[in-house]
Amino acid sequence: MQIVLATSNKGKVKEISGFFGEIVVPYTHIIDAFDIEENGDTFAKNAIIKARAIYEKLPDDSIVIADDSGISVPMLGGEPGVYSARYAKIGASDKDNLHKLINELKKKNIKCTAAYYTAAIALVCLEGEFVVHGWMYGNVIDEALGGGGFGYDPMFIPEGFDKTLGELPSDIKSDFSHRTKALKLIVPIMEMIKLGRI
Ligand code: IMP
Repeated sequence: MQIVLATSNKGKVKEISGFFGEIVVPYTHIIDAFDIEENGDTFAKNAIIKARAIYEKLPDDSIVIADDSGISVPMLGGEPGVYSARYAKIGASDKDNLHKLINELKKKNIKCTAAYYTAAIALVCLEGEFVVHGWMYGNVIDEALGGGGFGYDPMFIPEGFDKTLGELPSDIKSDFSHRTKALKLIVPIMEMIKLGRI
């Protein structure tokens, strides 16, 4: 079974391929990249929008999975949430968004505060549309430390640790990240589809 990944985000491709191995192929290996308007107001809606948009361009028997994810900071009213990829501006780089969040903390004199990552993983195939979620809790700090991970990882300290995901070895993130937790939930759905039980 080949699974098509509805993203070209290098950080996500690396983590999702690390989870599934070679059965996962980014959609850009099959068709040209194109813009998808993510206008949903939840991670789940945006994940479905992305998976459906790619599925519609592929043969009927394809299985497409999409990840929509982001970080939420309760002290900032849940920001950036579903706007994580365009927090600094539309088309912003990961670095722009990271520094925007650091600046928002600094403006409020917050050195460290609770935050969590959410990942919604959508699967679209002939048998239907499915969405699962995973979360990772911790704190964000008002500086970027370490070069590992991607996105907001250099300012995120997972619960139970005293270093950021930028500083910690990548296997720590892959053991219990929001993305890994959601991917673990999508596996039994894929198994049921494979067995023809859905
Ligand atoms: P999406 O591609 O629209 O789902 O945007 C997700 C954005 O959230 C990315 O651009 C990252 O900035 C951020 N993000 C999502 N997952 C992670 C993660 O695991 N680590 C760091 N940043 C993440």
